[in-house]
Amino acid sequence: MIEKISTLITKEEIDAKIKEIAKQIERDYEGKDIHFICVLKGGVMFMVDLARAINKNVYLHFMDVSSYGDSTESSGNIKILMDLDESIKDKNVIIVEDIIDSGRTLSVLKKILLSRGPESLKICTLLDKPDRRVAEVDIDYTGFKIPDEFVVGCGLDYAQKYRNLDYIGIISFEEE
Ligand code: IMP
Ligand code: MG
Repeated sequence: MIEKISTLITKEEIDAKIKEIAKQIERDYEGKDIHFICVLKGGVMFMVDLARAINKNVYLHFMDVSSYGDSTESSGNIKILMDLDESIKDKNVIIVEDIIDSGRTLSVLKKILLSRGPESLKICTLLDKPDRRVAEVDIDYTGFKIPDEFVVGCGLDYAQKYRNLDYIGIISFEEE
């Protein structure tokens, strides 16, 4: 099979959207420290670009939770593979995600993190696939709502590939 990528969102559109979200976060968190939690690995590119666009200190934290493996369908089986190395008690936390699809990962993760007593907990995602939602999640900052297609780039992978594309593309498969 040949993997083909067609552009859905350009680098220019993504850069502009990141600046817009960064400005919004700066306004919402005036006088407060911001703690980003990146959900590895997909969230890493977006988190880094967003943090760099914010004109004040942002603390960076990392977690790894299980998701799709190497297929394009959710297993619905979520567990923490790598936990935070610091307490988030009384902190203003934003989970930064690449995409919210079924919503299973984030709905579970949000409950776990809320039980640790942060001052506030918000969710910021680059992409949202609302048609695929199974578990309800309140999203505070959304980059782009996209159709029900499997996408790659800007941290998103297919079988661990294409994470470093600087645009979002739809992947399709053709016979050789
Ligand atoms: P959930 O279905 O909302 O729990 O999404 C879990 C994870 O699946 C996301 O954080 C992504 O890592 C991955 N995922 C969902 N949709 C896509 C996609 O279109 N491309 C690549 N990864 C995806
Ligand atoms: Mg992810």
